[in-house]
Amino acid sequence: MSNRVAVVTGAGRGLGEAIARDIAAAGVSVVLAGRSLEPLEVTQRLIESAGGVALVKQTDVTSAESVAELFDVAVTQLGGVDVLVNNAGVTGQVNLVDLDEAEWDRIFDTNVRGMFLCSREAGRRFAQTGSGRAVNVASVFGLLGRPGFSAYCASKGAVVNFTRSVGAEWARFGAQMNAVAPGYFATDINAELREDQSAMAKVLRRIPAYRMGTPDELANIVTYLALHAPDFLTGQTIAVDGGESSV
Ligand SMILES: NC(=O)c1ccc[n+]([C@@H]2O[C@H](COP(=O)([O-])OP(=O)(O)OC[C@H]3O[C@@H](n4cnc5c(N)ncnc54)[C@H](OP(=O)(O)O)[C@@H]3O)[C@@H](O)[C@H]2O)c1
Repeated sequence: MSNRVAVVTGAGRGLGEAIARDIAAAGVSVVLAGRSLEPLEVTQRLIESAGGVALVKQTDVTSAESVAELFDVAVTQLGGVDVLVNNAGVTGQVNLVDLDEAEWDRIFDTNVRGMFLCSREAGRRFAQTGSGRAVNVASVFGLLGRPGFSAYCASKGAVVNFTRSVGAEWARFGAQMNAVAPGYFATDINAELREDQSAMAKVLRRIPAYRMGTPDELANIVTYLALHAPDFLTGQTIAVDGGESSV
């Protein structure tokens, strides 16, 4: 795998950091993207100290210009892009009657527009080479409804159906797009929830495995889809959720 290159967005912390480390451990050079430089550099050091190759590129996935620069760096410094992981994402809990346009746009700009911009850049290169893999990080909230999360649920539902459409589109030229739908994993995105014991108890009651996942459990599936899955698997979303979306 040593000549392959992966771009991972939101690679400075949480699930993105675990995914970047796991893909790098498979011998793939990784470009680490996100808005804050320092956490990306920490991930870079972790990958390098494990013997891997990682570059850092400060990127705002909501900006077409910033995303174009990210892919230019991957191509000029590492020779191309074989894998894209659209992991960058934000959430927010507001009931619809109180949801303002700025909050709706913040969530859709990152979770949907960001995925679109990165996928378009990757897809243009995959179409030229006749290969390539994209893995989108959706959410069980994209498969289920959840009061207070209409914008987030709608944005992740968009990720799931974008994955189906683009998976079918790219199959014509030999590239694949799949997605994972994480349930609850302990990261910064749910730090507030984890501090609230009664809310946590309610969450755990909904999860047959009765626990949150560990970032490595998600990273393993993303790496499988990015590097090892058969080419015939495309357009699919795999829930990694301790059974939450099955009941
Ligand atoms: N943890 C869970 O339980 C869970 C469950 C379901 C789905 N997910 C999804 O998994 C993904 C990762 O979440 P996480 O739990 O690891 O959350 P997190 O710890 O909050 O990390 C989110 C990452 O996205 C990056 N990001 C946000 N806006 C960005 C932008 N405009 N441009 C570039 N990067 C941006 C952040 O970096 P900067 O702020 O430095 O840019 C950060 O690295 C998200 O898509 C999330 O919706 C998580």
